[in-house]
Amino acid sequence: MPDTPAVTTEAARAPAERGTGGPWLWLPAQQQPAWSGHGDLGWVRDRLSEIPPLVAADEIDTLTADLARAAAGGARILQAGDCAEDLRECTPAHIRAKTSVLAGLGGHLRRLSGQPVVEVGRIGGQFGKPRSSPVETVDGVEVPAFRGHIVHSETPTPEARRPDPLRMLRVHAASAAVADRLRRERVRRGRGRSAGPGPWTSHEALVLDYEAPLVRREADGRLLLGSTHLPWLGDRTRGLNAAHLALLGAVANPVGCKIGPAATPEDVARLCARLDPDRAPGRLVLIVRMGRARVAEHLPGIVQAVRRGGHPVVWLSDPMHGNTVHAPDGRKTRHLDDLVAEARAFQSVLRRHRQHPGGFHLEVAASDVTECVGGTVGGTAAIGRRYTTLCDPRLNPEQAHELLAACV
Ligand code: PEP
Ligand code: CO
Repeated sequence: MPDTPAVTTEAARAPAERGTGGPWLWLPAQQQPAWSGHGDLGWVRDRLSEIPPLVAADEIDTLTADLARAAAGGARILQAGDCAEDLRECTPAHIRAKTSVLAGLGGHLRRLSGQPVVEVGRIGGQFGKPRSSPVETVDGVEVPAFRGHIVHSETPTPEARRPDPLRMLRVHAASAAVADRLRRERVRRGRGRSAGPGPWTSHEALVLDYEAPLVRREADGRLLLGSTHLPWLGDRTRGLNAAHLALLGAVANPVGCKIGPAATPEDVARLCARLDPDRAPGRLVLIVRMGRARVAEHLPGIVQAVRRGGHPVVWLSDPMHGNTVHAPDGRKTRHLDDLVAEARAFQSVLRRHRQHPGGFHLEVAASDVTECVGGTVGGTAAIGRRYTTLCDPRLNPEQAHELLAACV
C-alpha cells in the first residue's frame, strides 16, 4: 500500500512557533506535496496559525452528539460531495446547489429509513488528494499526478503541477466562505430545535502543512482541528506510527477513518484504540470501502474486533472507492450495480452482527454529470458527455437517489 516514500516536509520538521506542537510535526507522513523548499512555505504556515479557525467547539459538540445518536442506532449519516473540490466552485451559487443536493439526498434517506439524518458534506476543505501513483500520463506526456487544488492546478503540464504553498491560503479563504454559508443554512434549518441536522463540513485531513497550523487549544484545554468539523484519515495515510494518526488522535473533533481491503481486524482494533481510547460515543466514524467482491469476506472479522474493543463507532459504507474501474477510453468510472452490491453487503454484515448500518459516504456531483455508469448513463460509451470531475468519478444526483433506494 505505501505508494510514495514516507516524506517529512521541511516545515513539518521545524518546531511550531505558534499554536500547538505535537508529534505530528516530526513523525513520517505519506502523500505530502513536494514543496521543494519553496520560499513561501514558512510564511504561509505562520499565517495559517494566526487566522481564526473555520469551526467552533460548540459545533463540534453538537455534531458529536448527533453522531453518538447514530452510533446507538437512532439516526443515519449521509456524508457526500465531490471527490476533489474545485476552488472555482465555492461561489454562493455553487454552494447553494451542493447543499441542496445534499439536503435532497438526506431527505430521501430519512424517508427510506424512517430515521433522522445528519448531513455531512465533503465540502469546505476537500482540496487535497492522495494518489496511488506519483505521476500520470496525459496525452502521452508524463506529469506529476494531480493532488488537489490545495497543491497545484489540474492543468496537466509540469509548470502548472508545481506545488505552490500560497494555494493553502486560497483554500482557507474559500473554505471560510463555504463554512459561513453552511453555518447560515444550519441556523435557518435549526430554528426552534436544540440540535441541527447539518450540513456539516468534512474532508480528508491530508496536507499537514495546512492542517497542523489550524490546530487550536480551547479555553477548556481541548485541542480543536480548526479546518473542518469531521476530518478523516484516508486509506493510504492511516499508518499507526505516522503523523496523520497522531494528529487526529489528539484533537477533540469527531474523526473518520477509511477502512480498505488491506486492513486486518488487528489493524482496525489498534486504530480504534488510538483514535477512541475513551470509547466515546460519536467520536469515531469507520468508513468501510472494501470493494464489492471483498466486503462480505473481510468485514465480519473487523466488526467483531471493534465490538470486542468496546468502541461505539458509527459504521458508514463508502461503496465508491473499492469499485473504481477503467472504461475502454482509459477514464476512471464506477458501475452503480457494483456500488449497490457493496452497500447492501455492508448492511447485511452489520445487521448479522447486531450493529447499526449508520449510513453512506458517497461521491456525488451537484449537477447532472456522466461519470459513473447506471441509471440514465447507459454504458461506458456514455460516460464522456459531462465528465468534469477533478479526480474520481462521481454519481449524479439521480444515480445517488437510485443507490439509496436500492439499498435502504
Ligand atoms: C477519497 O475519499 O476521495 C479517498 C481518496 O478515499 P480512500 O482514502 O478511501 O482511498
Ligand atoms: Co475519491
